[in-house]
Formats: sequence, structure tokens, C-alpha cells
Amino acid sequence: MSFLNKIRCAFTLGQGLLIENRALQTTDDPIAFFKAWLREAENSGIILPESMSVSSCTLEGRPSSRMVLLKEVDQKGFVFFTNYNSRKAKELEANPFATLLFHWNMLQRQVRIEGRIERISEQESADYFHSRGRGSQIGAWASHQSDELDSRETLVERVKMFEQKFKGQEIPLPEFWGGYRVVPDRIEFWQGKADRLHDRFIYQPEQQSWKITRLNP
Ligand SMILES: Cc1cc2nc3c(=O)[nH]c(=O)nc-3n(C[C@H](O)[C@H](O)[C@H](O)COP(=O)(O)O)c2cc1C
Repeated sequence: MSFLNKIRCAFTLGQGLLIENRALQTTDDPIAFFKAWLREAENSGIILPESMSVSSCTLEGRPSSRMVLLKEVDQKGFVFFTNYNSRKAKELEANPFATLLFHWNMLQRQVRIEGRIERISEQESADYFHSRGRGSQIGAWASHQSDELDSRETLVERVKMFEQKFKGQEIPLPEFWGGYRVVPDRIEFWQGKADRLHDRFIYQPEQQSWKITRLNP
């Protein structure tokens, strides 16, 4: 962590609890509200504030969670990238609902997002794939994500094989890799406050706009 980020973290620590005027303001647009909170998390020095838990659920009702990185957010939803053959992808394809969870501890904030999941277009995935470093692109080809791996050497060998295969050329988007978008139908903003009297607001789509409800902490 850089010196500047350490100062930022120290400065931000506990603000949600101590400073009264950090009361949650509801606005009409939860996406704009989310972006403002993400920006504040970035500015507070939190490392990887865009990391989030994504939970999927099997058809038998068995949930599983893991961290991923949020790469895009707009009115259409929240996008992350992964391997379409991974465990999460198999669960999401069978049961296309997911929940996302952000926790920005320095700010005493949590955001919970629930909704239907969809694949983004191949073109959008290709655009993002080609914006990544060459090493990450090779890594995507080399990893059979979530499958059993007999040894690290096997993985290193596969990396070498793909480096050789794509030497001197643009690396194509693997057909088994791309983005998922969570189209939100419930977004909860949680702001920690003193004496456990936290602020909670949920946004749910209603006709062309959003219904906002305050919940008990
Ligand atoms: C901070 C963080 C960010 C991560 N970002 C991603 C990501 O964007 N995409 C991804 O597929 N895996 C990411 N991972 C790895 C996943 O947590 C997980 O190990 C992997 O996707 C396999 O999950 P699965 O077997 O449940 O499909 C990240 C892990 C951490 C700790």
C-alpha cells in the first residue's frame, strides 16, 4: 500500500460510525448511488474496492460464493468476467440468479445486489479480453478453471504451450471465457452507524423507476 493510501485509510477509518453527517441519502437512481459509493471507496485507499463476492446456487438449492472483480457497472447491470466452464458458470447457467456483495470496511458500508444473470455479448467480452495484459490472456487459455489439476507443472506447461501457439499474433478470445451481467432487481445499501442503529435502504424496480424502502437495521 502506498504512503498516500495509508494516510487515506487512517483518515477514513471509522467515519461511518463517528461522523453523524454521513447519513445515507437516498436518490432516485441506485446505479448512480452505487457509483458514488464505489468512488468514495476508491478514494478512501481501500485496496481493490471493486472486489465483490458472487454467489450462485445449484438447482438443488446449495449456494456457493467466491470473490471476483467488478469490471463494468451501468444501467444494464453489474459485469464480471470468468471462465464459462467454471463451477460458478455451471451453476449460473443452470440457475440464472446471483447475488453480489461488497463490503468496504473502512467506510462501514455494505452493498447487496440480487438479480438475474446473463452472458454479455461476445464482442463485449472480446473487447475486455484484449484490454488485459498478454499474461492474463494466456492465463485464461491455460486454466481449466475449477477442474482438478494434477500439478502446478501441468499448468506451467500449458502456459508455455499457448505462449508458443500464439507467438507474434493477437491472442483470440477463448470461446469458454467471457462476461456475465447481473441485472439487479434488488439493491441494498447499508451504512454502519453508532449503537448498531445502521441505515439500510433497498431499491426494487417498479414500473419505469425504483421503489425505495427503509429497513430496520
Ligand atoms: C480479489 C479476488 C478477485 C478475483 N477476481 C476474479 C475474477 O474477476 N474472475 C474470476 O473468474 N475469478 C476471480 N477470482 C478467483 C475466484 O475467487 C475463484 O477462485 C475462481 O473464479 C473459481 O471459482 P469457481 O470454482 O467457484 O468457479 C478472484 C479472487 C479474488 C480473491
